[in-house]
Amino acid sequence: MHRLAVAIVVLGLLGCRNQDEAGAQSLWESFHEADYRSWERAPGYPGRTPSTASHGDAVEIFVNDTLAEALAAGAPLTAWPEGSLIVKDGFKGGEPHLVAAMEKREDGWFWAEYEPDGEVSFSGSPRVCTKCHDAGADYVRAFGFP
Ligand code: HEC
Repeated sequence: MHRLAVAIVVLGLLGCRNQDEAGAQSLWESFHEADYRSWERAPGYPGRTPSTASHGDAVEIFVNDTLAEALAAGAPLTAWPEGSLIVKDGFKGGEPHLVAAMEKREDGWFWAEYEPDGEVSFSGSPRVCTKCHDAGADYVRAFGFP
């Protein structure tokens, strides 16, 4: 009986990881079409940067125009504007390890994490992402508000 309960909990947690797989796939397509690796780099991440977070041992972080403009405008913010999109490549031992993205939508951040080939591993608003990122500036950990 105990084992069954554990199995149910584990399945439940796995289910929560991928709340909107199709949405994450279309987000993947849209940031590739927008050639995200040509975007501005996040402040403090001018190139491949060593990381101790849970996304690999080195990261490259790109921000879209909406977020870059909010940073450049320099006006004090308490939240990132709707339409902000941050994409991060994680590397381990020099090899692509994962791709993580967060997009600010009307109802808050949409989270997604992918295998390097685009297979979705997390999507939606999984607690695994939000519970660590809630320490950030409107959930952004790599850099703060202007
Ligand atoms: C244990 C803490 C932790 C967890 C769990 C975590 N992150 Fe992060 N994440 C960080 C830290 C710290 C950074 C910034 C520093 C770095 O990348 O080295 C970061 C950076 C990011 C960035 C770049 C923008 C930013 O906020 O700095 C994205 C995108 C991102 N994470 C997505 C995700 C997604 C999606 C998940 C869930 C699948 C997730 N993260 C889970 C700690 C975490």
